[in-house]
Amino acid sequence: MKALLLLFLCVSASWAQDDLQYDDYDLDAKASNATSPGTSLDARAHRPTTGRETYSSSRNPPPPISGGSRYRGRPTPAPVGGRREQEKVEQPEAGGCTHASEAMGVLCPTGCELKTMMVKQERNVKMAINQLKPDVQELSSSTNNVYNYVHSMSNSLRERQRVFTGNSRVMGQYTDQVEEQHAYIKETVDTIFPSNLRVLQGVLDKIRLKIQKLEKAIQSQKDQCKDPCITTCPIPVVSGKECEDIYRRGGRDSQMYIIQPDSFSPPYKVFCDQTTNNGGWALVQNRLDGSVDFGRRWDEYRRGFGNIAFSSEKGFCETPGEYWLGNDRISHLTKMGPTEVLIEMQDWTGAKVHAQYRQFTIQSETSNYMLAVDGYSGNAGNCFLEGALELFGVNRTMTIHNGMMFSTHDRDNDNWNPGDPSKQCSREDGGGWWYNRCHSANPNGRYYMGGSYTSQMSKHGTDDGMVWMNWKGSWYSLKAISMKIRPYIASR
Ligand SMILES: *[C@@H]1O[C@H](CO)[C@@H](O)[C@H](O)[C@H]1NC(C)=O
Ligand SMILES: *[C@@H]1O[C@H](CO)[C@@H](O)[C@H](O)[C@H]1NC(C)=O
Repeated sequence: MKALLLLFLCVSASWAQDDLQYDDYDLDAKASNATSPGTSLDARAHRPTTGRETYSSSRNPPPPISGGSRYRGRPTPAPVGGRREQEKVEQPEAGGCTHASEAMGVLCPTGCELKTMMVKQERNVKMAINQLKPDVQELSSSTNNVYNYVHSMSNSLRERQRVFTGNSRVMGQYTDQVEEQHAYIKETVDTIFPSNLRVLQGVLDKIRLKIQKLEKAIQSQKDQCKDPCITTCPIPVVSGKECEDIYRRGGRDSQMYIIQPDSFSPPYKVFCDQTTNNGGWALVQNRLDGSVDFGRRWDEYRRGFGNIAFSSEKGFCETPGEYWLGNDRISHLTKMGPTEVLIEMQDWTGAKVHAQYRQFTIQSETSNYMLAVDGYSGNAGNCFLEGALELFGVNRTMTIHNGMMFSTHDRDNDNWNPGDPSKQCSREDGGGWWYNRCHSANPNGRYYMGGSYTSQMSKHGTDDGMVWMNWKGSWYSLKAISMKIRPYIASR
C-alpha cells in the first residue's frame, strides 16, 4: 500500500509539472523506430547525415580563459450370413401297364396305347418340366434372394429401431442434462451472480475511496510543492566571493555557503567542496538520486534550479542536493579568471571515475553560454574535446561539446539542422546542455534507476540517460555525476 502510494506520488509529481514538461510537445518524435540497444552501437548520440545534407561543425569558440590566476597557490596535502436349400423335383415313375387299382384289373390294349401315349406325353411334359426347371430354379433362387433381401431388410429395420430407441434414450438423457444445467445456470444467474456483483461492487467502492484519498494526498503534496524548497539549516558565518575565497578565509568544511562574486550581483547559495583535491570547488551541477527534474526551460537553466543542500544529522547543510547552479552564475564565475572543472561520476556498482579540464569558460547569455574547455586529464574519457570514441569520422565530430552553445527544449542552439523544430537534441535527449548533434556526454539527461536502459524505455528512442559515453556507452545511465569549478592555479 505504501509502495502504491509512493507510485501515485511519483506519477503525480510528474503531472504536477505538466506544462513545464519539455517532452510533452509531441510523441510523434518517437515514430522513429527504437533500435535495440547494447550490443551493436546504435546510439542515437549522433544524428547521421542523410542524402545531400552535410554537417559542418564550424563554430569558432573563443578559447577558454587561461593564464595567470588571481590567486596565489596554496600548499596542498594529497587527498529473468442363407443357406440355399436345393428343392427336390420329384421324378414321375416310369410305369408298367397295370391299373393303379387292382379291382380294375389289367388294362386293355387300348388302355395300353393310351398308356403309351400317356408315356409319350409324359415325356413331353417331362421335357417341358425339365425346361421349366431352370426357370423354377431361377425363380426359386430369386425368391431366395427376395427372401434374403426381406430378411436383411427386417434386420436392418430392427437395427434401426434399436438405434432409434437408443437415440431417444440418449436424447432423453441429454434433455435431462440440459434441464439440469439450465436449472444450475438459472440459479447461478439468480443468486450467485448478484452476490458476486455485490462483492465486486464493494471492492470497487473501496478502490474508489482509496483513489479519493490518494487524490487528496496528491493535491496536498502539490500545494506543498508550489513553494520552492527552503533550506532550514544554518548558514555558515564564513562567506566570500567564491569557494576558493571561503577556503582561504577558513571555511574548510564541505557544505552550503553564501557567495557573492562581485558587489554588482546579489549573493547566492552554493555548495562548496572543500575536501576533494584540496577543496575550493563550487558545485555547479549535481545528480545523485533523480529527485530533481532536469528537463527544464531556458529560463530555469539560466537562473538555476534544484536543492543546494540538506542537513542530515550534523545540523548544517553538509549534504549537497540535486541542482544546476544557473548559467548566468556559472558563466560569471568562469569569466572571473582561469577556471578548472572537475566532473566526477559513479556507476551503479559504486565505481568512480572523473574527467578534469584545466580550462573551462562559459560565455554569457548573449553568446548562448558557449562552452570552451581545454587541458583534459582523468580516467572517464575526454568527451568534451574528442567526442564519443566508439563513433568515427564526422559521426564522432558530431558529439564533441567544446565550442557548443547551450540548448534547452525551448531554445535550440544545437548543430542538428538549426531551425528545424523536429530536430532538436534537447527535446530528445532529456535536459539542457551544450548539445552538438548531439552528445557524447549528457550529465543533465534523464535519471534511470539501475544503470542499463533501452531505447524502448527512453521517451524518444534516444540515449537520453545520464550518459558519459567514453566510460559506459550510450545505454548506461550513471548513478551520480557532478561538476565543480574553481579558479585554476598552476602551482596547485
Ligand atoms: C518498427 O519496427 C517494427 C518491427 O521491428 C515494425 O513492424 C514497425 O513497422 C516499425 N515502425 C517504424 C515506424 O519503423
Ligand atoms: C555514421 O553513422 C551512420 C549511421 O549511424 C553510418 O551509416 C555511417 O557509416 C557512419 N559514418 C562513419 C564515418 O562511421
